[in-house]
Amino acid sequence: MDVIICKDPAEVGRTAARRVMEILRRTSQPVLGVATGSSPLDLYHELARAVGAGEVDLSNLSCFALDEYIGLEPNDPNSYADTIRQTVTEPLHLDPARVHVPRGIGEDLDQGCRDYEEAIRVAGGVDVQILGIGANGHLGFNEPGSSFGGRTHLQRLTEQTREDNQRFFGDRDVPTHCVTQGLGTIMDARHLVLVAMGENKADAIAAACEGPVTAMCPASILQFHPDAWVVVDRAAASKLHHHWVEPVGVTQ
Ligand code: GLP
Repeated sequence: MDVIICKDPAEVGRTAARRVMEILRRTSQPVLGVATGSSPLDLYHELARAVGAGEVDLSNLSCFALDEYIGLEPNDPNSYADTIRQTVTEPLHLDPARVHVPRGIGEDLDQGCRDYEEAIRVAGGVDVQILGIGANGHLGFNEPGSSFGGRTHLQRLTEQTREDNQRFFGDRDVPTHCVTQGLGTIMDARHLVLVAMGENKADAIAAACEGPVTAMCPASILQFHPDAWVVVDRAAASKLHHHWVEPVGVTQ
């Protein structure tokens, strides 16, 4: 695991975007795993800027999102399908047919989970997966206690996660269930880039990076990944004790 501590959230976005582009440029049919939440927004802005400036060609890019709420139509403004469309597909000028989000509505959602796994496999697997982290250490919607070997599955949300995400829903209730890639699915990505900022993520980052590897902090599984970058601002890094060293070849 490499932990990169940046001076502010904007630098987190730039640093993470550089890493993501470096990986995507290596292949002609790149596959990017995308996350929702506020944490990756600066990263997406930086990718959009680089696309606009001609610094990277993402015209062949395929994307797979981590998760979706159950019961929301894809055009519902609170659905992750719509969020990904607004924050990723349109700003990066991607072909919508190549941007995939787990299906949270319709019949046989278990079959939808299996189909999603198959679609990732057919695309050649994820080259680089962007991740945020929940205040309780969740990845995607893999809440504490989730299996480290899990594949895409249906899951009940914890009350803390529903409360954390209430800010996006206004007067509406946050759905109680979701579809999420499993931790095993996430760990299959060839590279991982987790971004986090702010003091309210400091405990989760410390537990994920320096705590024991335990299902009670799902993000701690990153310690087992051969190429995981954790890019944080100083506030999110404030409870780390280890002296993290900048990886060779990174220019901040
Ligand atoms: C949600 C998403 C996660 C995300 C997390 C943190 O629950 N399912 O993928 O990482 O929230 O969100 P934020 O970045 O807004 O703090």
